[in-house]
Amino acid sequence: MKRSEFLKRLSAWSGAAAVTPSAWLAACGGDTGAGTGPSDDGSGPDGSPLQLPPTLRPDGLSLTAREGTVSLGPGQTSRAWMYDDLLPGPTLRGRTGDGVRMTLVNGLQEQTVVHWHGVDAPEHADGHPRLAVGPGATLAYDFTLENRAGTYWYHPHPHERTAIQTYRGMAGFFLVDDADSDALDLPAGSREVPLVLQDKRLDGSGEIVYAPSGPDIMTGFLGDVPFVNGTPFPYLPVDRTLYRFRLLNGSNARIFDLALTTGLSFVLIGNDGGFLERPETLQSILLGPGERVDVLVDFTGAPAGDTVVLQSRAFSLAGPPSSQGVAMDLMRFVISSAPAAPRALPEALPALPASPPTEGVPQQTFSFTSGMGRHRINGSAFQMDRVDARIPLGEPQVWRFLNSSPVPHPVHLHSAQFRVRSRIGGRGRLYPWEGGLKDTVLLMPFESVEVVVHFVRHRGLYLMHCHNLEHEDDGMMLNFEVT
Ligand code: C2O
Ligand code: CU
Ligand code: CU
Repeated sequence: MKRSEFLKRLSAWSGAAAVTPSAWLAACGGDTGAGTGPSDDGSGPDGSPLQLPPTLRPDGLSLTAREGTVSLGPGQTSRAWMYDDLLPGPTLRGRTGDGVRMTLVNGLQEQTVVHWHGVDAPEHADGHPRLAVGPGATLAYDFTLENRAGTYWYHPHPHERTAIQTYRGMAGFFLVDDADSDALDLPAGSREVPLVLQDKRLDGSGEIVYAPSGPDIMTGFLGDVPFVNGTPFPYLPVDRTLYRFRLLNGSNARIFDLALTTGLSFVLIGNDGGFLERPETLQSILLGPGERVDVLVDFTGAPAGDTVVLQSRAFSLAGPPSSQGVAMDLMRFVISSAPAAPRALPEALPALPASPPTEGVPQQTFSFTSGMGRHRINGSAFQMDRVDARIPLGEPQVWRFLNSSPVPHPVHLHSAQFRVRSRIGGRGRLYPWEGGLKDTVLLMPFESVEVVVHFVRHRGLYLMHCHNLEHEDDGMMLNFEVT
């Protein structure tokens, strides 16, 4: 496909009221059906194959942040800011107890720092914005991986520049394995696929643009083109057997209500902090920015040559008008004709660590407000050196997050995973993907959520913030100190 055709498709697509790539594909005159058919010449599906970044051990590695050029499809390139010139960045994969030794090399024209989201890192290795380094500088990380097996990730965290740097492409997976995950014998190799889900805006020449307006800062910067692993609406050929997908919502602000077409379901086995108590079969999963789920999908019964679409379903939202909640087709799975050996689903999952007692423990309340175009926690904007909350190491507490605004806030804590205890207002209930251990919990408009926090590993200064990255950079963040 020529560059001009690519742009024609994209403009047809992004101009549509509901974002569905079938309009995009139709503009090319291909057999689109459900937006999924083979191309005219029968050579394969339309569009681009899913990209899979290399998997590296985070030991003795350097990660270079710099600008580069990426391919977004046939004949189309864009500038992007990346780790090691990759979109997404390399998948880091280690085992509990491993040493993490990484050097960040800043090849950008501005300061940066990398944060290991969900990983219990000591204060000096957590990527707090006060640790950011300038252009040309390097930053060394050296710590022990203490988390249980799970789906973690990494992204930049410089003061007021987290949104732009992450949006322009700096993000990757950080997967952890342990003896429990080994024992489960889950699909692996080409049948274990990390998928980072994002939305982007492209300008008239097909370049990724980041230029939030006032209203964009209110809602967060929403794109109209779905990207999976750095490619618009890619496809992945799959065998007719069980797959494991590690899904990360790596968007700045977009919430995805994930579902599969053709009646396939997700078997949810894990979330932010690793395996859940038991597998659960689900038709849809609502995932806010920063959240992850670990799911199994069984393609055994899918007809050869069929296409299954991973979608975000439409949902309605109170609050300022925006494209939050529009339906989006994210990517396609093209079912192979070759037979494959079926695989059983796991019947049980590894036990969760014991939860701390919560009877009569201290409580703290954090109120997330959005008004007059400003996003605040307890009325204040983030200040680098101000400590807004303290908690003794080892003491369980109940923290209450209140969203008294008409916009969603995915609330994230650094340092340790928490447990979600209750939700009142709004949806008024908890969901299966909110069990187990979490580091990010979605507060839809006017919801309040109680979580049980228990910091047992590291003393020091850590962050709480909204993971809507425009809200975060606007100041919806605070320092808490584990004392
Ligand atoms: Cu994923 Cu402080 O962030
Ligand atoms: Cu984090
Ligand atoms: Cu927010």
